[in-house]
Amino acid sequence: MPKILIVYYSRTGNTEKMAQAVAEGAKTVQGVEVELTYHATPEMLKAYDAIIVGVPTYHHDMTIDIKTLFEEAATKNIDLKGKIGAAFGSYGWSGEAPKLVLEIMKNKFEMKVEAPPLLAKYTPDQAALEKCRELGRKIAENLLNISSTKY
Ligand SMILES: Cc1cc2nc3c(=O)[nH]c(=O)nc-3n(C[C@H](O)[C@H](O)[C@H](O)COP(=O)(O)O)c2cc1C
Repeated sequence: MPKILIVYYSRTGNTEKMAQAVAEGAKTVQGVEVELTYHATPEMLKAYDAIIVGVPTYHHDMTIDIKTLFEEAATKNIDLKGKIGAAFGSYGWSGEAPKLVLEIMKNKFEMKVEAPPLLAKYTPDQAALEKCRELGRKIAENLLNISSTKY
């Protein structure tokens, strides 16, 4: 069964709300396994067909946990080539972090990324949460389509 990992960081809970909505949307698609986690190791990433990262922007950058995850994955030569990647996050005024994550996924790990990233200003409202559910659903459906053409 195709597997999706949603890994996120959130200091004040805004990106966490988005992560829960992405997971909710992905879980509406039958035949896809969905894991939502606050903590992932580089080795864990290998086991998933799609990796969706939730990261808020602090100081015009991604947060240290997410940066370390990709740094370590690169150091350990973890092969993520061809996996689907997506990113989302809450922000206040500039919102660079999810875009930076997509750049690393695409340029360093040769993942197939879903662009642009999904952003919500501060606390996500109902419309933003619905977009998060849509993102989760879309990635899950993409995975199902890919896995059905593999065999
Ligand atoms: C110290 C600090 C620095 C921040 N730096 C930025 C920034 O550079 N760009 C931006 O868009 N938002 C910035 N923000 C706003 C956060 O991204 C925003 O509060 C977001 O909702 C936090 O998400 P979280 O609840 O998932 O941690 C900053 C907030 C704080 C407290």
